[in-house]
Amino acid sequence: MAADAPETTNGPQAAQLAPAEAFSEAERAAIYRVIHSRRDVRDEFLPDDVPRDVLLRILDAAHHAPSVGFMQPWNFIIVRDIEKRRAAHDAFLRACEAEEQALEPERRSLYRSLKLQGILKAPLNICVTCDRARFGATGLGRSQQPDTACAVQNLWLAARAEGVGVGWVSIVQAADLRHIFNIPNEIAIIAYLCVGYVAKAYTSPELEVKRWASRLPLENLIFEDSWGQLAASTNPP
Ligand SMILES: Cc1cc2nc3c(=O)[nH]c(=O)nc-3n(C[C@H](O)[C@H](O)[C@H](O)COP(=O)(O)O)c2cc1C
Repeated sequence: MAADAPETTNGPQAAQLAPAEAFSEAERAAIYRVIHSRRDVRDEFLPDDVPRDVLLRILDAAHHAPSVGFMQPWNFIIVRDIEKRRAAHDAFLRACEAEEQALEPERRSLYRSLKLQGILKAPLNICVTCDRARFGATGLGRSQQPDTACAVQNLWLAARAEGVGVGWVSIVQAADLRHIFNIPNEIAIIAYLCVGYVAKAYTSPELEVKRWASRLPLENLIFEDSWGQLAASTNPP
């Protein structure tokens, strides 16, 4: 071992360790602000282009998500082409119709009134995929779909910090997206995102504002040591 290596090491790689103390109060406030003010955006998109450097920062945040065995199974298809976006929008309309029919009749008119995507309004769409066999069959690769969802979350938070809104469209058949974007069968489609600058965003989930659903009380979700055993005291901020 090199003479100047720190004493607490277990090898030369320990030189790669850096202090990991808590962030400053201002930094922590910024992190919590981005988490709490991130919204699913559907209708507030501005037509302004998202410059390449901003887009790359956002995608780089996604690329720094955790992944099992460091598989990094994601790809990002950046979609600006209006014909492709029209095709994705048509696919959304078909899926939406089917979803509406599957609802209880009394919820259908509220469902119909909801705006559930910004495919054409957002200047940019991103299709996020997952390659389950990126490094072959390693035995570590069983959870790449959650991995890719982690990447989407990073992307979403970084976008919020950049003033860029993101809306996740899941009301669309994967087979349609596969066809539109030439995605091979072995590649899983995880997310179809609408992306663009926004001037305003809801302060709480739009689906809550529009009385579709509301946030569950955190204290009902925290158990201690055993399923169903509610924690004695929880003080959400
Ligand atoms: C996996 C996933 C799929 C989603 N699909 C849709 C969708 O198809 N249409 C839509 O309007 N919102 C969609 N959303 C957004 C949620 O409705 C939204 O996250 C939730 O209402 C909470 O609001 P918030 O993200 O603004 O906090 C999706 C979110 C996730 C995580």
